[in-house]
Amino acid sequence: MFDHMFNRTVVSWNAVVTSCVGSLWLGDAIGYFVKMMDFGFEPDEMLLMLEVCAEMGNLSLGRWIHSQVIERGFVLNYQWGTALVDVYARSGAVSYAKLVFDRRKKYDMSSSIQPNYVTFLGVLCACSHDGLVDDGFLYFHEKMEHRYKIKPMMVHYGAMFDILGRAGSLKEAYDFIMSPPFQPHPLVWRTLLSACSVHDVNDRNGVAYKVRKKLLELEPTRSGNLVMVANMHVDAGTWEKAENVRRVMRDGGLKKGGESWVELAGIHPSVFFWV
Ligand SMILES: *[C@@H]1O[C@H](CO)[C@@H](O)[C@H](O)[C@H]1NC(C)=O
Repeated sequence: MFDHMFNRTVVSWNAVVTSCVGSLWLGDAIGYFVKMMDFGFEPDEMLLMLEVCAEMGNLSLGRWIHSQVIERGFVLNYQWGTALVDVYARSGAVSYAKLVFDRRKKYDMSSSIQPNYVTFLGVLCACSHDGLVDDGFLYFHEKMEHRYKIKPMMVHYGAMFDILGRAGSLKEAYDFIMSPPFQPHPLVWRTLLSACSVHDVNDRNGVAYKVRKKLLELEPTRSGNLVMVANMHVDAGTWEKAENVRRVMRDGGLKKGGESWVELAGIHPSVFFWV
């Protein structure tokens, strides 16, 4: 309907863009926003569009809006800074995210507004994407916890753990989740185990061994854990160990959701770790 409106004014353009965003038609919002600029109208929803770019991961449009911000001499205040960090972080442009984040600090010092937990989550996700372990720790401990006194939430721990696992820093990932207040869900252990199978299939640093042990302690009845242990031995070419695990599963009559194999087989979990 709007496309056929004869007298499009800057007000109606802005209204259309805003209502598209309100209806979560983000692609359309971007489309109309670009058209509006093409027609030479001055948008007054640049900040909103920047948030849309972050949501859509549209780095090129986000960059362009950033250039407009600079060109128009807008002050990089807290809101603009957060939106820009978000765009860059979510599109994986970590160096830009950090640049804006660090520049923004200057303004933050003169105002009482603080970066919030979302900002840090964005930065941590970007660090994970780019494998930046040291930067991840820096943002997590130095900046978020100490400087800005933001108590990390479970999502931040998850993001930090993800940084370590993806980068193959298995020992650090293990120590990180072993330290309070982290109380890792078995899923977290399984994630670490799968990182081990990618980065250290022969378990030279012994992390996989400890993780498997942990998993069997936490979920002794889960047959999937034993299957996983067997598969890892197969991957590592330690066939004999794989066969041992399989034999215990067979002999123990382990079933999905059945009783504890420890009870069934009358043995201690450590029997699996003749390494
Ligand atoms: C970003 O938005 C522009 C303008 O609509 C579009 O041309 C471009 O394809 C989009 N890029 C991505 C990665 O979505």
